[in-house]
Amino acid sequence: MRESEINTWVSDARLAFAAASDLDSLKIARLAHSGDKSPIALASRSLGSLLPADKVNFGKLIGDAKSVIAQALSEATTELETQRDRKVLLEEVLDVTLPSNRSHRGGLHPISIMKNEISDFFVEQGYSVKDGPEMESGWLNFDALNIPADHPARTMQDTFFVEPLDSGIVLRTQTSPVQIRTMLTSTPPIYIISPGRTFRADELDATHSPVFHQVEGLVVDKGITMAHLKGTLDNFAQAMFGPQVTTRLRPSFFPFTEPSAEVDVFFNNRWIEWGGCGMVNPKVLETCGIDTDIYSGFAFGMGIERTLMVRHGVTDMHDIVEGDLRFTRQFGVGL
Ligand code: DAH
Repeated sequence: MRESEINTWVSDARLAFAAASDLDSLKIARLAHSGDKSPIALASRSLGSLLPADKVNFGKLIGDAKSVIAQALSEATTELETQRDRKVLLEEVLDVTLPSNRSHRGGLHPISIMKNEISDFFVEQGYSVKDGPEMESGWLNFDALNIPADHPARTMQDTFFVEPLDSGIVLRTQTSPVQIRTMLTSTPPIYIISPGRTFRADELDATHSPVFHQVEGLVVDKGITMAHLKGTLDNFAQAMFGPQVTTRLRPSFFPFTEPSAEVDVFFNNRWIEWGGCGMVNPKVLETCGIDTDIYSGFAFGMGIERTLMVRHGVTDMHDIVEGDLRFTRQFGVGL
C-alpha cells in the first residue's frame, strides 16, 4: 500500500462523482469508489495485516481519504437531487389560464328551484310535503272534491283522459286530489302542502301550458278560521314576493271550498291574481270521514309558473317550458 495510491483513489472518486449526470449514474460511481468492493474499502480491511507502525500511519491516511470521499459523495448527491427536483417542477408546470373545453355543470330548472323554496318555507312552519300520482282517479280528482259530473272542468276540453276511457283514470287537472288522499289516510291535525305537476288540454301559448305546476295547501284542525287562512297567505306571499307585499281575498267559487276566494297580491304597485283558496267544504271533509263538529280547515292552490312569471316579470310561458339555458341560467344553478 502506498500513499500515492490512496491519493489516486480519492481523486478518481471525486472525478467519478463530479462526472455523474444523474442520481442513477452517481449510484454506480458510489459503489465503484466507496462501496464494499471499492479499492479504499479493500485497503481498509487489509490494515490488520500490516506492521503496527504502518497500521497507524496508513490507518490515518485511509481514514482521512474515506472522509474526503464521503464528503465529495454527499456534495454530489445534494447537487443532483436539487437538479432532479427542479426538473420535476418544470415538467409538471400547469398553466391554469389556458382555455379549457370543460362542459357546464347541470342545474335545477327555475320551477324546481321555486318548488324547493315553497317547500322549505312551509316545512319551517311545521307542514309536511305530500306527493300524489300524476295519473289520478277521476273520483279523487273530481267527485270527492265535490266537482259534479256536469261541471265544465270535467268535459273533454279541459281534461286528458287515460285510455281505455272507462278506466276512470285522468291526468290530474289540479293538485287538489292530494287533499283527499291525505284526509283519507291520516287524522287531523293536518298541515300539508303538495307541489306538483298538473295537466290540462290547453294549447301552449304565452300564458298557458298543457303541463304546468301547482302547489296545494291544506290545514285541518280544531278551530281553524278564515283568519288563519289570511295570515298564512300573507306570510306565504311575503316569502315569495318580498316583505312589503299584502294579499286580498275576493269572493269566488270552488266546489271544494265554502266560502271560496281568489287571492290577489299587491306587487309592483298593482293587484295581481295569484290563486284560489277557501274554507274546506264540509261536504269534502265528510266524504273523507272527518267530523265537522270538531274540525274545520282551509285550503289554497297556486300556479307555480304563474308565481315565477309574476315575481320575475317573465312574459312568455315558452321561456319556462323550453329549457333554454340562456333563460334558466339567470335563476342560478340552484344545486
Ligand atoms: N284546484 C284549483 C284550480 O286548479 C285551485 C284551488 C282553489 C285550490 C281553491 C284550492 C282551493 O285548494 O281551496 O283552479
